Amino acid sequence: MARDKDSELDQFVAQLQNEIDDEARKIFSEKVIEEYKHPYHFGTIENPSAMAKIKGWCGDTMQIFLKINGDRIDNATFFTDGCGATVACGSMVIKLIQNKSIEEIEKITKEDLKNALDGLPPENAHCAELTINTLKAALESRSK
Ligand code: FES
Repeated sequence: MARDKDSELDQFVAQLQNEIDDEARKIFSEKVIEEYKHPYHFGTIENPSAMAKIKGWCGDTMQIFLKINGDRIDNATFFTDGCGATVACGSMVIKLIQNKSIEEIEKITKEDLKNALDGLPPENAHCAELTINTLKAALESRSK
């Protein structure tokens, strides 16, 4: 009996999730939804070589942590209390900087980030800007 209730609840939760996903697909690209649902390297790094934390005008915060080895990123993570689009931006920017040199990373723009996510709605453009600003601030914070 309890098992039936569990499976009813599982079905209900799955149906609810599908409805939420359908609503999200009207607004966001598949890539944004995918990055939001499975964020890449979400978390912090102990003793990072560089890090930055910026609060956007919307009140959300983005943090980026970098472990730098010579001229390249060894490891990178992000952490945010922001919206789903910000989670997607953080996840994608960490993917974009993997195995890149500092010089290459310095050239990444908010447009590059938006393109990598197959676009963002105009009301979420600032989420990409917050992410890129945090990345640039993290690079500037490193001891040279
Ligand atoms: Fe605040 Fe996305 S709404 S960063």
